[in-house]
Amino acid sequence: MKIAVMPGDGIGEEVTQQAVRVLQVVMGPHAAMELAYAPVGQAGVDVAGDPLPLATREIADKADAILFGSAGVPGDEAIEYMMRPGASLLRLRKQLDLFANFRPAVMFQDLIGASTLKPEIVSGLDLMILRELTGDIYFGEPRGTHINARGEREAFNTMRYNESEISRIAHVAFQTARKRRHQVCSVDKANVLDTMQLWRQVMTEVGREYPDVELSHLFVDAAAMQLMRNPKQFDVIVTGNIFGDILSDAAAMLTGSIGMLPSASMSHGKKGLYEPVHGTAPDIAGKDVANPLASILSMAMMLRYSFDLHDKAEQVESAVRHVLAQGLRTADIYQPGTQCVGTRAMGEAVTKALAK
Ligand code: IPM
Ligand code: MG
Repeated sequence: MKIAVMPGDGIGEEVTQQAVRVLQVVMGPHAAMELAYAPVGQAGVDVAGDPLPLATREIADKADAILFGSAGVPGDEAIEYMMRPGASLLRLRKQLDLFANFRPAVMFQDLIGASTLKPEIVSGLDLMILRELTGDIYFGEPRGTHINARGEREAFNTMRYNESEISRIAHVAFQTARKRRHQVCSVDKANVLDTMQLWRQVMTEVGREYPDVELSHLFVDAAAMQLMRNPKQFDVIVTGNIFGDILSDAAAMLTGSIGMLPSASMSHGKKGLYEPVHGTAPDIAGKDVANPLASILSMAMMLRYSFDLHDKAEQVESAVRHVLAQGLRTADIYQPGTQCVGTRAMGEAVTKALAK
């Protein structure tokens, strides 16, 4: 098992440290596991003058899986796009062709009270957002800023998808639904955007190859509303890059905190990049208060998706359930009557629960 570890910036470092710690416990001392640490983001700039240094790219190429923390620093918008620490993640996604981003939103029963929604709306929630990750307005050309004919600054991006990009994510969606509750809801904006009309057509065409899976369509504004109104109607939501970015943060809050949400970004094979959905959270970085559970759960997704270690993944997930049942909480999911612990203590509690 060759694993590239890229803690990155902000809270990335401290949460990834806990995920690695739990990984070492669940795999045991004799596992054939090789961890290669590599700097990304500002950490990459500091070491090699590039947010995605060549050496880091080589480590990523050779690895079976990448455990990623988070990348970016406040104010990096001023830097040329591809050299921004925050863009290192986008470059890595593109370079490794990680087009399928799985963002499960699963309700942990002990955290029902931490959700801002009523318990009956979110109890038992288990949905999968499948976000296309290498196309759309994130990568579409042309893009840029210029001075227009009237002498004012103008900026533009291009929402762009071709047929094959849509059909490959469609196939992943239907195949994912086959292992779940056989429902796919495709989210677009076909009422306004040409790109999204093509999205809907291709989704419908590919859907005919999966008659056992029920396909529905929603416009993204309605989907946002339905996610808040009745999220349990969804099984797999498949959507483009930008809508998936937005809807997955919304879905995260259904479960109580974005600090709980893991993700896996896959290409065609088993190689994947695993990262918590939360970002760098610079305001709390280095203070030992960040929630390491999203990173720990991302590591569990790695065991399952890249290494087929389903039992070990389940052990990690049940250890997380165990510490929550014990009443341990980081600040983001704290509620009166529970015990507030820091990043390290939370990681340690998970390792102890595993050892049992
Ligand atoms: C995410 C993040 C990234 C994105 C940022 C950090 C570039 O918000 O993974 O959801 O927009 O994809
Ligand atoms: Mg996001």
